[in-house]
Amino acid sequence: TGSGRFFVGGNWKCNGSTASIKQLVNELNSASIENDVDVVVAPPFLYIGQVIGSLTDRIEVSAQNCWVGKGGAFTGEISADQLVDVGVKWVIQGHSERRHVIGESNATIGKKSAYALSKGLGVIACVGEKLEEREASRTTAVVFEQLQAYADEISDWSKVVIAYEPVWAIGTGKVATPEQAQEVHAAIRSWLSEKISLEVALATRIIYGGSVNRSNCAELAKKEDIDGFLVGGASLKGPEFVSICNAVT
Ligand code: G3P
Repeated sequence: TGSGRFFVGGNWKCNGSTASIKQLVNELNSASIENDVDVVVAPPFLYIGQVIGSLTDRIEVSAQNCWVGKGGAFTGEISADQLVDVGVKWVIQGHSERRHVIGESNATIGKKSAYALSKGLGVIACVGEKLEEREASRTTAVVFEQLQAYADEISDWSKVVIAYEPVWAIGTGKVATPEQAQEVHAAIRSWLSEKISLEVALATRIIYGGSVNRSNCAELAKKEDIDGFLVGGASLKGPEFVSICNAVT
């Protein structure tokens, strides 16, 4: 770990039902989570009200996406203003599934992030290369391009957490090795230092996502520039997610 408090997010993606989420919330409420870690969960929009109404204040709630600006005639969208209204504190932006399945561009992701920050939300800003990009030695080029698109729109980085999620590691069971993750995290920190400021580079949490589970989290967490995790599949299991939250203890 490097900068600031350890940060663990659970991205539930498009999973769960009223009943399964009730059970997961109960498990999280009764768990003991170490003091020096920030914990956030991101339920599907529909269940955010249920989660906010039942989850311990110890854990903050994130959305998985939001509209690019103020609300209005945008059928099917949810605005950052509405997220703030119901008590959401964070929003994930630029997740690989939104980039590569839904087709969001770097530019849209930058704009969405800036608008969400302007409304007071924290932003979990995702970046990450595809397998063919890594194999073509383009990992840092791709990640830096994604970072630049955030930087083009964001001026205040104090509520940004960067999530490095190599696409080939997401949902595949093929976790990056601690060395592979550390290498990219360090490159991201240098990029921040060079392009934004040394202060932002030192203060910004850079978390890793992609097949994190209870057995691989401790080794990853030891690395100098790994400041936490963004967990998908394993965040749907209460006890396992709590073990990951407590990875640095
Ligand atoms: O946002 C977290 C995610 O993409 C990682 O998913 O299932 O590989 O932990 P998973």
